[in-house]
Amino acid sequence: MKFLMLCREARLYSCQRLKNAAEKLGHQMDILDPNRFLLKLEQNAPHFSLYYQENHDAKPVLLSEYDAVLPRFGTASTQMGCAVLRHFAAKSVPCLNEAAAFSSARDKWQSLQLLQQAGIAVPPTAFVGKEFEAQDSVSLIGSPSVLKTLTGSQGIGVILAEKPQSAVSILETLTETNVPVLLQEFVEEAHNADIRCFVVGDKVVATMLRQSKAGEFRANFHRGGSAQSIQLSDAENAIAINATKALGLDVAGVDLIRAKTGLLVLEVNASPGLELIEKTNGADIASQMIKYLVRKIVGKN
Ligand SMILES: Nc1ncnc2c1ncn2[C@@H]1O[C@H](COP(=O)(O)OP(=O)(O)O)[C@@H](O)[C@H]1O
Ligand SMILES: [Mg+2]
Repeated sequence: MKFLMLCREARLYSCQRLKNAAEKLGHQMDILDPNRFLLKLEQNAPHFSLYYQENHDAKPVLLSEYDAVLPRFGTASTQMGCAVLRHFAAKSVPCLNEAAAFSSARDKWQSLQLLQQAGIAVPPTAFVGKEFEAQDSVSLIGSPSVLKTLTGSQGIGVILAEKPQSAVSILETLTETNVPVLLQEFVEEAHNADIRCFVVGDKVVATMLRQSKAGEFRANFHRGGSAQSIQLSDAENAIAINATKALGLDVAGVDLIRAKTGLLVLEVNASPGLELIEKTNGADIASQMIKYLVRKIVGKN
């Protein structure tokens, strides 16, 4: 089969692992940058065409057919990347993950609403309108609190406000500069650790416990967090699988945090990194993703 990965940096570990896994299983994988596409709508067939420009001097080429698409683009390319996914969906090409699910996952507030609606426990969180008094918002969530921009990733845009006054001033600054932000209870008892579950279809294929580096509360790999392997119970794995389903994703990296009240879902990533979790867990996640994608394509035909 011939696959297309949408990614801005082909050299990244995750992209290379997925390409190698696809090739080992006898498939072909092209890696293209979603920002180098031109999408065209036209009255005559094929109605949805896609052009690609390799570099500024290159002649645009009309893209050939693909059997499936893997979105692996970052938050800076969500809009264009999802538009490309919708173009392929209109041509009945399956995507791992589909555009609607992918873009819901890229909005932290919308994801939390969908999780809560599906009966999945999330930390108490507020999304505050510009005219709502910041002081009152902070009183409703309590202190310390965490503020998060809606489209951040890799720990960027996640701020700990240890005192109510800090939360108020950060909230005021962000809303005043038109940066939408959510306000969340800080789960202090997790001691700066969280759990990443990698879900493919209806299976948790790998898990790891991440601990932040000294002086940092964010456990992300990109913020210097370290990881160790961890085994979850079936009930705990079911939380990650249900969170993936609630957002309609095929593949997800679900972040869980241990609170006094139990295991809570922090967020669901639609393009989770493979490097730290494969190296920590020893699992061949890339091959499992490709095999799942092939089953999805065959199931469709
Ligand atoms: N409410 C919270 N309480 C305690 N720690 C948190 C909370 N929210 C986030 N964190 C920490 O910050 C990290 C990044 O937050 P997350 O919501 O996963 O955003 P990102 O998309 O940037 O990874 C988490 O992995 C966790 O370590
Ligand atoms: Mg995260």
